[in-house]
Amino acid sequence: MNKKILSKSKISKPKYKILFVSSELHPFAKTGGLGDVCNSLPRALKALHQDIKILIPAYPFAIEKAEQIKQVAQIDLPVKGFPGTLGLTVETNKVHRVNILETKLPGTHVKVWMVESTLYNRPGTPYFDDDNKEWEDNDFRFALLNYIAVEIAMGRTELKWHADIVHSNDWQTGLISVLLEKEYLKKKAVRPATVFTIHNMAHMGVYSKERFDALKLPQSLWNHHELEFHNEFSFIKGGLIFSDRVNTVSPTYALEIQHEEFGYGLSELLAYRNERLSGILNGIDMKEWNPAKDPMIKKNYSIKTINNKQTNKSALQKHFNLPKKKNTLLLGLVARLVYQKGIDLLLENMDEILKLPVQIVILGSGDLELESRLRRWSNKHPDQLQLQIGYDEQLSHLIEAASDAFLMPSRFEPCGLNQLYSLRYGTIPIVRKTGGLADTVIHASKENLNNRSATGVVFQEAEGSTILDAVNLTSLLYQNKDIWKKLMINGMKQEFSWKESAKQYLALYAQAIEDRNKYKRHSSF
Ligand code: ADP
Ligand code: GLC
Repeated sequence: MNKKILSKSKISKPKYKILFVSSELHPFAKTGGLGDVCNSLPRALKALHQDIKILIPAYPFAIEKAEQIKQVAQIDLPVKGFPGTLGLTVETNKVHRVNILETKLPGTHVKVWMVESTLYNRPGTPYFDDDNKEWEDNDFRFALLNYIAVEIAMGRTELKWHADIVHSNDWQTGLISVLLEKEYLKKKAVRPATVFTIHNMAHMGVYSKERFDALKLPQSLWNHHELEFHNEFSFIKGGLIFSDRVNTVSPTYALEIQHEEFGYGLSELLAYRNERLSGILNGIDMKEWNPAKDPMIKKNYSIKTINNKQTNKSALQKHFNLPKKKNTLLLGLVARLVYQKGIDLLLENMDEILKLPVQIVILGSGDLELESRLRRWSNKHPDQLQLQIGYDEQLSHLIEAASDAFLMPSRFEPCGLNQLYSLRYGTIPIVRKTGGLADTVIHASKENLNNRSATGVVFQEAEGSTILDAVNLTSLLYQNKDIWKKLMINGMKQEFSWKESAKQYLALYAQAIEDRNKYKRHSSF
């Protein structure tokens, strides 16, 4: 036999059956980066020849966007009296039956299964109603997703498929690993290995003991070493304690959450599980976020045609009725307008920032107080600051393409995608040195400019005038066209495709399987 072929077959790559579970999946349902990641990572895993299926709730707005959707199974929840609608008393003795709908991730062969239930059949976003109020029964809604994931993963459904790995994402999927651990109790049951990815520690899914009881979770788990969390219980704790492997979306954030400031009361637990905790940097969808081909921007450009970026700048200024100034530094910001994103830091320094020769455009929604404070500044300085409240995919692309620099003064940032989009679009990111921002943007210090590694402006502290200093520095750099161009090009040359990260996830899956086989079963069920 040919030597080459022999050695190739010897190191045959693993092919896992992966059930990837999330509350968001772009383009069906997205409120932030979670939706983006849950689209791109499965694609990249499929390209590495994995058998991957995605499971999400069948929100009406998700069904609407799905092509060739069909019902492929019905599943009865193996929990009697699972709360079916708002309130605890309805359907107490009925079995909750759900339909599984099947579609594909657009442009791929990745199957997406959607759980259809009355609990998801509502307008709004995955988490909020039309008035931006959180659905009161989100615990029931996502617990249902978790129970169904376990049925599918264990191969107990008409889908005739079981999982080797269950990959859960954020608190909405935190009970899956708990419920799968319980499967070990059943004679001869082999459960899939479990991986839990933290996209954001700030959201923990905390609910009362009454709700814990209503969810029919084993009473033995009600102790502070397991699901109890300050007299309530927490979904995310389930994922962190019971999963074979836990990871987060950047190496720096994986370290940060082991400290009090970022751990939201769970830093000690994370430090204790340190050996099973790692950080894998998110990538970006290089096709969707490609300035050379992006259909959502005014004029396409690449490094070679970088001057075309200017046409986008004019278009954005026109969109926002800002004076068409070619040489005024235009700063963009697209984000959920919440504490995490450091919008208050920007507001505190706004007076001084607006004294600089800058224009600012902001797209986002979230905290009502932050929104109205921004609006006040915009009303006061309409020639310099413009704001669009709401969610607008197309405009977000134009802002990335048109801005000279992009503001991300986050107080914490598990990974962050917008700074990566900015780099790819030749838009200089101005970021605070935290989490994934620290891992992906290299500060424009003299030394880094000289050795051509600089890609953005990085500031340290989330207080005082540090953000003002950063904008000041950006403004100075902008005035030197040679330096500015070098910064843009350095950024555009960065490689943030998913391929490498997906390989790291494969290695993580292998470790999860090893850990599942090696460690003793959890005892307290
Ligand atoms: P997070 O997930 O914390 O919100 P990320 O930077 O990881 O932050 O991802 C945010 C994603 O959501 C990006 O794709 C960004 O463009 C998008 N996004 C946020 N707010 C809006 C908005 N108002 N309109 C359009 N896209 C938005
Ligand atoms: C979260 C984080 C963000 C990260 C995204 C995708 O929403 O806030 O930093 O990029 O998840 O992992």
